[in-house]
Amino acid sequence: MNQIDLRTRIDRVLYSEDVISRRVRELAQEISDDYRTRGHAADAKGRPLLMACILRGALVFMADLAREMTIPVEYDLISVSSYGNGTAPGAVRLVKDLERPIEGRDVLIVEDIIDTGYTIEYLRRNLESRDPASVRVCTLVDKAARREIKTQVDYIGFELSEDAFVVGYGMDYAELYRNLPFIGVLKQEYIG
Ligand code: PRP
Repeated sequence: MNQIDLRTRIDRVLYSEDVISRRVRELAQEISDDYRTRGHAADAKGRPLLMACILRGALVFMADLAREMTIPVEYDLISVSSYGNGTAPGAVRLVKDLERPIEGRDVLIVEDIIDTGYTIEYLRRNLESRDPASVRVCTLVDKAARREIKTQVDYIGFELSEDAFVVGYGMDYAELYRNLPFIGVLKQEYIG
């Protein structure tokens, strides 16, 4: 199976490669300016902003966002998983932790998409319990209409109001489509 085949399974493109690239550059500028203005381009010990990428969906976004940032950054990776059926709704567990402590650090959680909000709320609370200087959240796509719990999102690339199943630019269906360079809606016949 190759990428050409996968493109034929896309019903329509929501955000093209160009649109994403422009928005990512704008976001990186906005975030960099914010931290610089707040005097947080580095923490009290001179350590730069730590970008925490949530595996695996945010990997592609993270790689582009980090390279567009105009302040020094470090990055680290974290992975969570939803518990299966039969557990409390929204139950999330840590699969892979950050490599290093974040006490006193400014942390920016980088997510590809926020849907119900359970994943990001779990992570925000988990990281905040480690006494960082600050924790903020950046998501490329926000499906606010699907939210089941309140959670603060500080930086949003695109607000998606329709309840479409989107793939590409890191986002998958059954682990496929992550390497498509755009974000599109999967044809219904390929879901389920
Ligand atoms: C997706 C996405 C978010 C989460 C959002 O991850 O990357 O982490 O779901 O959903 P929520 O707001 O309803 O919690 P997924 O579990 O599909 O894993 P992946 O990142 O490996 O694709």
